Amino acid sequence: MKTEVTKSTEKLSGRFYTPEYIVNNILDLSSYYGNTILRKHVIDNSCGDGAFLVAIVGRYCDEFLKTSRDLCSLSEELSAYIHGVEIDENECRKCVEKLNSKIKNYGLDSIVWDIMCADALSVDKYDGKMDFVLGNPPYIRVHNLGDNFSNIKKFSFTQNGMTDLYIVFYEIGLKMLNAGGVLGYITPSSFFNSIAGKYMRSHLINNNLIDKIVDLRHFQAFSATTYTTIAILKNNRKKKTTEYYQFEANNNIPYYVDTLSVEDYFICGNFYFSNRENLHELKSILSFTTIKECFAVKNGFATLADGFFIGEFDFNEFTIPVVKASTGAHAKCIFPYSKGKLIPYNILTRNKRIKKYFETSKELLLKRSLESESGWYGFGRTQGINDVEKNKYSVNALIRSPFDIKLIKCGKGVGVYSGLYILTEIEESELRKIMYCEEFMSYISLLGKYKSGGYYTFSSKDLKRFLEYKYSQRRGFQNEQFSIFGGA
Ligand SMILES: C[S@@+](CC[C@H](N)C(=O)[O-])C[C@H]1O[C@@H](n2cnc3c(N)ncnc32)[C@H](O)[C@@H]1O
Repeated sequence: MKTEVTKSTEKLSGRFYTPEYIVNNILDLSSYYGNTILRKHVIDNSCGDGAFLVAIVGRYCDEFLKTSRDLCSLSEELSAYIHGVEIDENECRKCVEKLNSKIKNYGLDSIVWDIMCADALSVDKYDGKMDFVLGNPPYIRVHNLGDNFSNIKKFSFTQNGMTDLYIVFYEIGLKMLNAGGVLGYITPSSFFNSIAGKYMRSHLINNNLIDKIVDLRHFQAFSATTYTTIAILKNNRKKKTTEYYQFEANNNIPYYVDTLSVEDYFICGNFYFSNRENLHELKSILSFTTIKECFAVKNGFATLADGFFIGEFDFNEFTIPVVKASTGAHAKCIFPYSKGKLIPYNILTRNKRIKKYFETSKELLLKRSLESESGWYGFGRTQGINDVEKNKYSVNALIRSPFDIKLIKCGKGVGVYSGLYILTEIEESELRKIMYCEEFMSYISLLGKYKSGGYYTFSSKDLKRFLEYKYSQRRGFQNEQFSIFGGA
């Protein structure tokens, strides 16, 4: 199959090598240092060419040699306590070569390494025995898993369908830990709020496992665009809190932000991380309900063929002005609708120019995957069509700072595409006050929907929630002022 052949090795094997500074940060955060690591079992269950194991061996040897010169015992301990699993034979071989080269620095050679070439999903010999499980498991989306898909369905963390292999590796890793064991992984942060991560989130909370979280947010540690986190999980913790860190990109180290309780960061079934003050505000917004709704926020037109419907035409009939919400640009759009209904084709194409325009692109228009109610000459989706005759504001759904917000007033008869629009009766000045503020930016960034270039995206639902909450707060404040003055 062509698509399978052209998929990159990274996508199919989940192979993204870990930079040394990330490895060392994970080892430090997991407390894999000092003499307490001696005679402790450690495994990287998807060890690749050994980025973690080489660093682990280095730390082990340094620590051992502080108190003993018995190289024979050191060799035996390296064989007995340091373990790796890797599915790819070539990677296993490279890993062993790198480990052999590392130990030469310590005057050692010929160690029998415990590097197993196997599918970690079928390995159980380490279960319950490991003091440390450290690594960077493979990230492979379920639709790229091929034959392995049926294999992952037997795991509890994958009960919610669409998943990623890294979620299974959390389950495997936790199973490998002994009673006081520590797991330290770098993985995508999508388990914070994805449907696929739902079961895992409950498991982590119910078992009080999350010791530390370093959210790398927009910082890219790998060559591919992935939004990642370092998670340190610990069995049988006495503490009930989690230390939250962000990542200092200039020095490549985590910096401490706050100590959080589950109530702070587990909000409406998802994980959100920030300082407690921001999380408190976020919780108020996400759990806010209103009796009187003052805003509707919707998605603009989805023609699925903007190049055809939007532009300059040699006819005016059946066209309307439109605003591109993502940029605020004005344009013209063919609008083959009347009162929300598709205009019959023979009436639409009475004008010969229009007919020619449609006929020459018929094939292209038919190729779109249309909603059932759409005709081949209509928009791909029906969204936004019914609100053309209403007053509204278009708004972009991709921002980095409040300066990026483009809120454009669109009168009756104007369409909106490539973004969202707001329907409301409130004054424009009031709407602007609510949206052009740091609080809105803070809320959007907390939702954690990262996009490249430091941007965040948000949905119509996210925006509506904020508008209703902030407007009600402002009204409450105004009413309070009114009653104070009224009573005076
Ligand atoms: C993200 S890479 C990490 C490699 C290495 N730990 C590092 O940090 O550089 C993931 C590794 O998992 C391996 N892998 C993928 N599926 C696996 C499986 N089912 N069992 C064991 N290893 C697997 C890949 O071959 C790849 O080497």
